[in-house]
Parts: sequence; C-alpha cells; structure tokens
Amino acid sequence: MQIFIDSADLNEIRDAAAMGVIDGVTTNPSLVAKAGRPLDAVIRDICEVVDGPISAEVIATDLEGILKEGRTLAKIHPNVVVKVPLIADGLRAVKIFSSEGIKTNVTLCFSAVQGMLAAKAGATYISPFVGRIDDIAGEGMLLVEQLVEIYRNYGYATQVLAASIRHPVHVVRSAEIGAHVATLPHKVIHQLLKHPLTDAGLATFLADAKKIPQK
Ligand code: E4P
Repeated sequence: MQIFIDSADLNEIRDAAAMGVIDGVTTNPSLVAKAGRPLDAVIRDICEVVDGPISAEVIATDLEGILKEGRTLAKIHPNVVVKVPLIADGLRAVKIFSSEGIKTNVTLCFSAVQGMLAAKAGATYISPFVGRIDDIAGEGMLLVEQLVEIYRNYGYATQVLAASIRHPVHVVRSAEIGAHVATLPHKVIHQLLKHPLTDAGLATFLADAKKIPQK
C-alpha cells in the first residue's frame, strides 16, 4: 500500500519525506488555508519536496470552472493530480480530464455507489472519507472494503485512496483490505512509528552501552 501525507504544511511534508515513507501528498482547501499562502505556490513547493502524485483541489463546482481550474493546476507540475468533488459536474470534468491525460482524485466519497460512478467516469483515485463516516456512527472501513471489492470485481483501474484517516488502526485495516493508498495526517505517520517496547529496548541498550569498556 502506498502512503501519502495529507497536509499542505511544508515542514510536515519535509519531515515525512526525509524518513522515506511517503509516496505522495494530498491537500484540500482547508489544509491549504492553514498554510496561509496561495494554492499554486503551495503546490509548486510540495512538488519540489516529493516526487509522487500531489493532489490539488479545485474550488469551482460548475463544469467550466472545474475544467479551467483543473487545467491550470495540472500545468504546475506533471505530478499534480486534480482533486474534484463527487458531484455531477465533477464527474463530467473527470471524464474530460481523463481524455486529456490529466489525473484525478475524486473526493468526498461517502458511498459505494458514488465510488462506482467515479470509476466509470475514469477517476484515477477515489477518496472514501473513513473518519468522517465514523464520526456520524457509520463504519468508514466498510466503504473502503466495498470499493476495493467492487473495483476488483469489474477490473476498474481507479485506485482506492483511503482518506480522512484518524489513527493507526485505520491504516492497518486499509492495508489488510488492499486499499491502494492511504493518506495520513503527519501525526498519524508518527503514531505508526511508536511502540513502547522499542522505546524501552532502546533505553536499555543505551544504558548498557555506557558499561562497554572503552579502549
Ligand atoms: C482527503 O484527501 C482529505 O484531504 C482528508 O483526508 C480529509 O480528512 P479529515 O476528515 O480529517 O478532514
């Protein structure tokens, strides 16, 4: 499973990239707003740090607007993936982007039938929002399972990108299910690293190392 970082914060992205554990980046308007700089500048900088798919989301919700913004974003760098909301004009745009060779990430997916339509339209990635489904007492991982199974049944090329990931169990389940990608907040990437036995074992080794006679 590929791991993307879900962030527009260059420090977070650099930190994760330096560990060699991330294959790409996803952003959304809320994350870019926190970065406090224009979208194109943020995306350009991210593309210099990570050599992999970088999702940049359109703001427009009408076909012409989505096409215009998406084409502009795609020109920033060959790694840019245009992130499009799962609405009718979004899917119309995905069909056109697909014919133009522009990669897409269809976002805000909350049901298997929405995901089927995105795959038929030619989406490169579908983003089921696991955590937000859990937040309303649903089972977000079930949607990831359904999408992986449906795409496998019919040979859709669309990749399942588990999004709105909140904790390490979401990551493990995504990998077990066979999601192609999971996009993780910086905090969750660091949570994956942590194990109390690693910390305790390292403390013991370092303490014992002091007892090793020096030449
Ligand atoms: C996905 O691409 C979104 O940017 C993101 O995963 C949403 O996560 P949230 O529900 O924690 O905001």
